[in-house]
Amino acid sequence: MPTALVTGGTSGIGAAFARQLAARGDDLVLVARDGERLEASAAELRATYGVAVEVLPADLGDRDQVLRVAARLEDSSRPVDLLVNNAGFGVHHRLTDPDPAPHEHAIDVMVTAVLVLGGAAGRAMRERGHGAIVNVASTAGYMAMGSYSAVKAWAMTYSESLANELTGTGVTVTALAPGWVRTEFHQRADIRTSSIPAPLWLDADALVAECLADVARGAVVSIPSRRYRALMFAVRHAPRSAVRAASRRLSSSRH
Ligand SMILES: NC(=O)c1ccc[n+]([C@@H]2O[C@H](COP(=O)([O-])OP(=O)(O)OC[C@H]3O[C@@H](n4cnc5c(N)ncnc54)[C@H](OP(=O)(O)O)[C@@H]3O)[C@@H](O)[C@H]2O)c1
Repeated sequence: MPTALVTGGTSGIGAAFARQLAARGDDLVLVARDGERLEASAAELRATYGVAVEVLPADLGDRDQVLRVAARLEDSSRPVDLLVNNAGFGVHHRLTDPDPAPHEHAIDVMVTAVLVLGGAAGRAMRERGHGAIVNVASTAGYMAMGSYSAVKAWAMTYSESLANELTGTGVTVTALAPGWVRTEFHQRADIRTSSIPAPLWLDADALVAECLADVARGAVVSIPSRRYRALMFAVRHAPRSAVRAASRRLSSSRH
């Protein structure tokens, strides 16, 4: 059976990946900080889908713990066929706040950990001649809404670059750029969502199903739903000054 490692696999988008991968018969390695929740998620997945689920508690903001997960990805006796670099959170602190710690933490978890785990998986998969990596970016990466946009823009460019580096090796890399999804994300980051129009909300299961279909065909960028593909086409072709103005309006409606 193929094995998939999903970071942040206990909630929201990561949990949807875990369920759909288990439903198609993949064994799983789940990574997150909360050990009890990991055990509960694993037990439910084993009972529902009959797959093997390993839990690997780790705080991806901590270098040594990231290296433990990287070592699991490079363990040739227990190959991982799919890495989903998904763990993350919203950041709506101002860039001029005196304490840069929330931004640094975001970079640790959503840039440094993604880089280290992507590199480890890429090496191991290239050696075996097959595998797939999904990096969860965001449509926010096309906008200019603080360090979260900057981090997710990095995830997009990084994924395209890693895909280039691994071209012809049998390993594919896909950047997933979802729009707004109802998960624990907004509540955890204390982001107001009342001004977000209902049609802009995506269902986590539907977007993961689209993403896995994109991964299967080797797509480098996956933007689930027709409406977000159309919106992002407009954003990518609009003058940057218009994108900055829209970003300012969106940011101020969330504070
Ligand atoms: N929801 C949206 O609207 C949206 C839109 C676009 C992109 N995204 C991206 O989608 C990804 C998943 O977000 P979500 O919406 O599913 O959020 P979520 O429901 O809050 O889930 C986040 C997951 O990440 C784990 N996690 C958080 N910090 C971690 C850390 N330091 N180390 C290890 N695991 C950590 C959490 O588990 P523990 O707390 O137990 O560690 C949890 O399993 C993120 O990268 C996010 O930026 C979300």
